[in-house]
Amino acid sequence: MIDALSFKNGTFRYLDQRFLPLQEIHVETKDHQEAIEAIKTLAVRGAPLIGASAGYTVVLGINEYTGDKAGFPAYFEKLIADVNASRPTAVNLFFATKKMQAVYDANFENDSLETIFAKMTDMAHKIYNDEVDNCDKIARHGVDLIKRDFADVLKTRKLNVLTHCNTGTLACCGIGTALGVIRLAYEEGLIERVISAESRPLLQGLRLTAWELEHDGIPFASISDSSSAILMQRGMIDFAVTGADRITANGDTANKIGTFAHAISAKYHGLPFYIAAPVSTIDITMAKGTEIPIEERNADELRKIFGTQVATPTTPVVNYAFDVTPGTLIRGIITEKEAVVGNYNEGLAKVVNA
Ligand code: MRU
Repeated sequence: MIDALSFKNGTFRYLDQRFLPLQEIHVETKDHQEAIEAIKTLAVRGAPLIGASAGYTVVLGINEYTGDKAGFPAYFEKLIADVNASRPTAVNLFFATKKMQAVYDANFENDSLETIFAKMTDMAHKIYNDEVDNCDKIARHGVDLIKRDFADVLKTRKLNVLTHCNTGTLACCGIGTALGVIRLAYEEGLIERVISAESRPLLQGLRLTAWELEHDGIPFASISDSSSAILMQRGMIDFAVTGADRITANGDTANKIGTFAHAISAKYHGLPFYIAAPVSTIDITMAKGTEIPIEERNADELRKIFGTQVATPTTPVVNYAFDVTPGTLIRGIITEKEAVVGNYNEGLAKVVNA
């Protein structure tokens, strides 16, 4: 298994994903500001991994605290605010900091700082371990749904699946969300080939998903993001499955920029489009996708390709990191509790409150 992230003896260790697949650089830090920088720069990335990293970043922050109990509340408030400010779209980050906050709220009055810190460290490990377990359950529910949806086709041939961005071990701690579904589907003999969209501008599909698929020996081809429509038109894709960064109550789903275009194409060609994500990615406090804050990133991510200038430094750029696919384009939202199909307002509220 790829060692994407760990936390041992007060040290946060992560694989710096900016250099993959050409260099495998593992970084160790005890400094919470460095961990925040790793989240901001996408050295660690992918919604569930961002959530796990946020939990461990809070642990680094509390371990750095040298003051007394009276001074801790103000320090902790700023620490949580700094972690929350690192990336806006993936709700898993806020899910994790809320869990850490809840441990603090429940124990601050009665426990020593040492005991509170130990309980917060346990919570950070739990966030990580839950995401690992969630991936296995998501994969099972996803494969079962695909088997149902493609029961007739599977009698005669295997399936070709499109995915976007990276939703594997690098993004999720475990086997992955969408990539976990694909991995299990391949293991169970359902998959002919994976089509992996490159995911401009930071190429998570081309660099990371391709690397994970190659590592596992799963047949795949990488495509430019704009190629999915012609592949669908030519019968080279049967369905699509991607991850999510935030899913609102009605099923609208924020994911890596480009996902929406694949979903529109899938609808046009009559192909099912699935989302695979843990319940920690569902945000039922938001009614619909227009409420999701969409991260806009530095213009140079577009003007340069891996440090090489490809446009003039003054080229005006719009660089949204995510888009929102309406729930109406999504055939099913596969969570660790169940695959939700049909009425998302009802189904998602049920899995969140279960
Ligand atoms: O900007 P990134 O690389 O963090 O974006 C990642 C994605 O959009 C993933 O598809 C999403 O987080 C799901 S990861 C299981």
